[in-house]
Formats: sequence, structure tokens, C-alpha cells
Amino acid sequence: MKIIVTGGAGFIGSAFVRMAIGETDLEVVNLDALTYAGNLENLTSVATSERYRFVHGDICDAALVEALVAEEKPDAIVHFAAESHVDRSILSPEPVVRTNFNGTFTLLEAAKRNQIGRFVHVSTDEVYGSLEAPHEADEQYPLNPSSPYSASKAASDLLARSYFVTFHLPVVITRASNNYGPYQFPEKLIPLMISNALEDKALPVYGDGQQIRDWLYVEDHCRGILAVLRQGREGEIYNIGGNRSLPNLDVVHQLLAITEKPESLIRYVTDRPGHDRRYALSSEKLMRETGWEPVMNFETGLARTIQWYRDNSAWVSHVRSGEYRAYYETNYAHRTGE
Ligand code: NAD
Ligand code: DAU
Repeated sequence: MKIIVTGGAGFIGSAFVRMAIGETDLEVVNLDALTYAGNLENLTSVATSERYRFVHGDICDAALVEALVAEEKPDAIVHFAAESHVDRSILSPEPVVRTNFNGTFTLLEAAKRNQIGRFVHVSTDEVYGSLEAPHEADEQYPLNPSSPYSASKAASDLLARSYFVTFHLPVVITRASNNYGPYQFPEKLIPLMISNALEDKALPVYGDGQQIRDWLYVEDHCRGILAVLRQGREGEIYNIGGNRSLPNLDVVHQLLAITEKPESLIRYVTDRPGHDRRYALSSEKLMRETGWEPVMNFETGLARTIQWYRDNSAWVSHVRSGEYRAYYETNYAHRTGE
């Protein structure tokens, strides 16, 4: 089976490509624009595989996408490429809407024209918005996105679904909770806090730090996507949660304990506008239909992730140079007054 993966140089996409090449017999064509979040260093372990090909390109480039899909004739497209960061979507929504909505449209059109046998659209639990406890979102839960990022993902989910209903394109949608693990760009909570803590820098906690997220180890997410690729039913949506809900401050405390750094590094800073208070997801459907379940225990996964960042300081300093510094300044200077 041959698949086109989009966004395979990013955090989750690269974990999926490494798993597909290392643990399955899938042939993978990786289409990635190499934005600030895309990094071919994430793929050195698969770069020379005969079952792997990298194509540098933008999913919004209709001519390029059409030519690639027509040339490769893949059995499936697994679509990860996105602008994935909520804070950046608040600072600068245009590239978010462009890639997440227009880019998805471009791919759906090429998939339709070339009669692709499966289109896995990788989405997020953020489309359900903030949930009051004890509610959990199942796949029928109403969409209620809060940020330009989550609204662009919800819009692309609806567009993907319309291609199933109207054109019978075999679309399957996944909605996962917060991922963590090796190779995550240090703009997201866990890698940002780890890389700051390892350098004794302040840990910027938004608001009161009591916002709740459900943590999913990235390899558990990738196994869920493989299960959906193979066994998911056309036109269906599958939630993929980590079954480990924690307030942000608990995550930061655990991380400080493992790194043996002081709590005095914590800085309470101005909250994110429109900040969702709580996400909670039921993955019962995926578990029932495919036998998938998340296997990584959070404490083990966090310790493993911290060790990876300790062992890969060259990767960290590379991705934190240049553009990252400008972003960090823009997002944090006004919050911390530093
Ligand atoms: P990421 O930001 O780490 O990587 C995104 C990748 O997409 C990068 O390699 C980037 O170069 C590429 N890309 C961006 N714009 C592109 C374009 N126009 N054309 C081609 N490539 C482009 O993202 P991630 O955290 O790995 O997330 C991957 C997917 O999973 C996204 O669709 C995201 O919405 C979804 N998701 C993420 C999480 C999470 O916790 N990170 C949770 C649930 C769902
Ligand atoms: O829920 C799935 C989503 O998880 C994905 O769709 C997104 O792509 C991914 O970025 C993530 O979104 P979040 O906004 O939940 O992740 P982030 O790591 O940015 O923030 C997690 C929580 O930590 C959130 O409540 C905001 C808070 N936070 C984040 C940062 C970066 C802080 O308190 N301080 C920070 O510096």
C-alpha cells in the first residue's frame, strides 16, 4: 500500500512516517512545505529507505498537488499538514486559515479527481471547544471552536465530510487530544517547559494554570491513525484521546520534579485570549471498532520525553534559533514584562 502523507516533517507527521517505515510495509511519499515547524532532521532514520520519498511543496499549490497525486497514484492520503499552534493563530490567523482550510480543499479536490481510495483527515479535540466537567465529547458532540486554529480545523473537518457526503470520497476524520513526546517543536506546553527548565529559564504558566488537557503520547496517536487507515469506516469520525486529563500546573510540577528544578521557575503570566478551560474526549468508538487503546502511562512518557530533550540539545538549539526567538519575544514579552 502506498500513501501520501502531508506534513510528515512536523512533530506528529514525522512520528507517523518513522512508524510507517519502521513497523509496517507501507510505502510513504511525504509532502511538506518545511515551514518553521517542519524539520527534515526528524526523518534522518528513514531518509534512505527505498519505501520513502520526500517532496518539498505546499498543500495550497493546486498544480503541484494534482501532479503529485496523479503521478504517485497512492492508495490513501493521510493529511497532517497544518498550522498547529493556537497562540500563533491568535497573533497571525491568515496562514492558519490558508493552510488548514484552503490546503485541505486543494488535497480533497486532487483526491476526488484521482479517485483516491482513502482520505484520513487528521483533526483535533479542540473543535469541540471547552467542556464543563464531567462531560466528555463523543463524535456526535457539537462543534464549538474558540480560536482561529480550532475554527480552521472545524471548518476543514466539515469540508472533508462534505466530500464524503456529496462526492462519495472515502474520507475518515480523526480528532486527537494533546500530543507530547520527542521531536515536538518547543512552542507547545510540554517541550517549551522542558527546554526552559533545562536552561533554568522562567516557565510561563497562562492564567491560573488550572486549564485541563488530556495528554496522549505521540506514538499512541500514530497507532490510532494506522488503525483508522486500515479499519476505520468511510465517512466516520474517530476520537483519539490519551485518557489522562491533568491541569497544566500539575504537568509543570511533574516536569520540575523529574528535572530536579525549583518551583521558583514558575511565572504566572497573562492568559491566552479565548483560552479553553477544559478538553475531554471519549475514544470508546475507536477502541470498540479497532481494539486500539493508549498504552503509554503519562509519568513514563513524560520522563522519556524529558530524557529525549536532554539527549538532543543540538536539535533543540537548532530549532530555537532564528524565527523561534522572534516568536518567543512577540508571544511572551508583553505577558511577562521581561
Ligand atoms: P506541526 O506544527 O509540528 O507540523 C506541521 C507540519 O506541516 C510541518 O512539517 C509543516 O512544515 C507542515 N506544513 C505546514 N503548512 C504546510 C503547507 N501549507 N503545505 C505543506 N506542509 C505544511 O504539527 P503537529 O503538532 O505535528 O500536528 C499535525 C496535525 O495533527 C495537525 O493537523 C494538527 O492540527 C493535528 N493535531 C495536533 C495535535 C497536537 O497536540 N500537536 C493534537 C491533535 C491534532
Ligand atoms: O487538544 C489538541 C491540540 O493541542 C492540538 O490540536 C494543537 O495543535 C496543539 O497545539 C494543542 O493545543 P493547546 O492549545 O492545548 O496546546 P499548547 O501546548 O499550546 O497549550 C497547552 C495548555 O498549556 C493550554 O492550556 C495553554 C497552556 N500554556 C501553553 C503555553 C505554550 C501555558 O500555560 N503556557 C505556555 O507557554
